[in-house]
Amino acid sequence: MAPTVSKRSFAAAALLLKLTAAYLADDGTVVIPGAASYNGLNLVPQMGWDNWNAFGCSVNESLLLDTAQAMVDYGLRDLGYNYVILDDCWSIGRNASGYQVPDPVTFPNGMKYIADHLHSMGLKFGMYSSAGLFTCGKRPGSLGYETQDAEFFAANGVDYLKYDNCFNQGQSGTPKLSFDRYNVMSQALNATGRPIVYSLCNWGDDNPYDWAYTISNAGRMSGDIYDSFNRPDDRCPCTVNPCNWPGFHCSVLNILNKMAPIQSRTMSGYFNDMDMLEVGNGGQTDNEYVTHFSMWAMMSSPLLMGTDVVGLSPANLAIYSNPAVIALNQDPSAAAGSRIWRHECNDTDQYGQCEQSLWMRGLKNGDTVIALINGANSTQTMNASLSDIFLDARTAGTSKPAAQLEEMWDVYDLWANRMSNEEAAAILARNSTTAPAVITANSTSTTRYNTTAMSYADGLKANATALFGKKVGSVPAHGTWTASIPRHSTGLYRLRMAGSGGMGKRDEL
Ligand code: GAL
Repeated sequence: MAPTVSKRSFAAAALLLKLTAAYLADDGTVVIPGAASYNGLNLVPQMGWDNWNAFGCSVNESLLLDTAQAMVDYGLRDLGYNYVILDDCWSIGRNASGYQVPDPVTFPNGMKYIADHLHSMGLKFGMYSSAGLFTCGKRPGSLGYETQDAEFFAANGVDYLKYDNCFNQGQSGTPKLSFDRYNVMSQALNATGRPIVYSLCNWGDDNPYDWAYTISNAGRMSGDIYDSFNRPDDRCPCTVNPCNWPGFHCSVLNILNKMAPIQSRTMSGYFNDMDMLEVGNGGQTDNEYVTHFSMWAMMSSPLLMGTDVVGLSPANLAIYSNPAVIALNQDPSAAAGSRIWRHECNDTDQYGQCEQSLWMRGLKNGDTVIALINGANSTQTMNASLSDIFLDARTAGTSKPAAQLEEMWDVYDLWANRMSNEEAAAILARNSTTAPAVITANSTSTTRYNTTAMSYADGLKANATALFGKKVGSVPAHGTWTASIPRHSTGLYRLRMAGSGGMGKRDEL
């Protein structure tokens, strides 16, 4: 007979076990020690804005502060976009003590001034450096100066560090070389005692998704994105991971498809960073930007706006502001979606490309999200069968069909409640008579949400209207969801077990 233990001694034993072995949390999820955040930060993907994609080295104090004000006024801060990240080109050198000197022309009041300003607005401040002799823009890098630079960031009230890979003095080429180099800054940041989210930017070099979760909160898994849906480019040669030369000019579909083989390496506290969003930069159609935003959310990539926020168009604000899609990204499951299938097709576009794919992701409350991507050159009817969607449940060690196949599923379209251009235009006009002023936690709005008032995790538990899109149909047991998906677009649907309101079903399966 198994020994019985009191609840208290079981809890103590469980606590001890947490340090060494996987265990079952109160809510029934399996917790793998070491897979949670190494510094307690970034349990769901970071959100915010980074100037690089739209402004490159043309940065200054007013760009940051004007953008921050727009993020507040447009409701973006309250949707969760809370980091304002200053990328490359802010430093002009080091002083006699080895500390970095911000450019006095572009940042006349220094960095603490910006941090204080952002903090007073309820925002956080991110900065950039490189684990090399120089940054990619040939400003001073941090290699050999990790302690001084970490102290500089902490003293200036910085909350986030993006840490690049240029001019690394050959200290790369094996995971160990990269780990050791990036670990020096990790230790230096920890030593400051200030909580600082640490985001690696080594472009997937040396497979950071295999080692970086013990020293950082996120890691880029590809070369630099550029504003194209699927244009092949020799400078971004790899289409799958691992990738020996990550390159740059990587399209949305190139980066997305590289995520398929590494999706299991995303976890609470460490996210595979698919690079900053291009929505708003003009190189893609509205449907393509919907796909880009949907899939970055689906894969738990950081959601970092990479455009001119002040000058956003209504359509692009509507994409960045879709609470039902952001709630997918911020789901406490903190996992990435799986690609179930990908087909090449015949109806090719101007680049000779045509692909279609089905992705799925299980969420914390037992719902399942699916994405049907149509990369064909025309509208296509696409199918997602329950047996495909729940394939992994079926093949987990047994050929028994998945229990989910026996259920009927209600289907919610996560884009059906997209904010109208009129509503977005009123918000952009900062017209307080027409723009919704305060979105309370229990608001019945379908287009607005305020995570400052109620977190996404709590809003999802409470079935907050804005987080679930619109019910558009059902799939019977053993059935198939069929949808008509426009050219270069994505159908993004949340499947909820019929009759359950989608709540608490996971335990029963
Ligand atoms: C690249 C990085 C970009 C940007 C740029 C700045 O290496 O991937 O996101 O930070 O450097 O020079």
